[in-house]
Amino acid sequence: MKIGVLISGGGTNLQAIIDAIGAGYIDAQIVQVVSSRPDAYGLVRAHEAGIPTCSLNRDMYADPHAANEVIASMFVQAGAEYLVMAGYMRKLTEEVLLAFPDRVLNIHPALLPSFTGAHAVEDAFNAGVKVTGVTVHFANAAYDKGPIIAQRAVDVLEGDTLDALTERIHAVEHVLYPEVLHLLAQGRISIGQDRKVHISE
Ligand code: GRF
Repeated sequence: MKIGVLISGGGTNLQAIIDAIGAGYIDAQIVQVVSSRPDAYGLVRAHEAGIPTCSLNRDMYADPHAANEVIASMFVQAGAEYLVMAGYMRKLTEEVLLAFPDRVLNIHPALLPSFTGAHAVEDAFNAGVKVTGVTVHFANAAYDKGPIIAQRAVDVLEGDTLDALTERIHAVEHVLYPEVLHLLAQGRISIGQDRKVHISE
């Protein structure tokens, strides 16, 4: 399975995927990393792993459709079969989504459909929920609303801080994303006619 990864920041999820591929757990190759920021540390991680990278800057997103066209053609050219958003903080538009229909994955640090948006951990913490977690889902035009592939709960503990909760959520992300990609590479993940995700044995 050839995958392209989209990042904007530290790239710890990217690193978890690189490591899981290196360990032979995910039968895949990352053919291209695209960053929405030239200073994303995830780019360093990609370089160190010998993965081709490309970064866009703020100016290029002045026209999001043009930016997405560049992104789509980059991944198509690299031969990517699936795209994996790993902390990518820009919206993907139809130029990419139509080029990879039902083939774009995202990870979200909350139990969707609760706490959509860019501040999910903080929003859940401030709401006082006792359980939050991590969701991996297919991305489509409706932000944070695509078919859910996998979820894992994370308890909010007595005396918890936002930092501590964020750290535990990240730790779960680094396990869950590789698990999903492992299943995807084995061809075990599909979307049914009901638009729900099914995972075969
Ligand atoms: C993760 O918490 C992810 O759920 C969110 O952005 C964060 C990315 O972290 N969408 P990293 O860049 O993988 O370290």
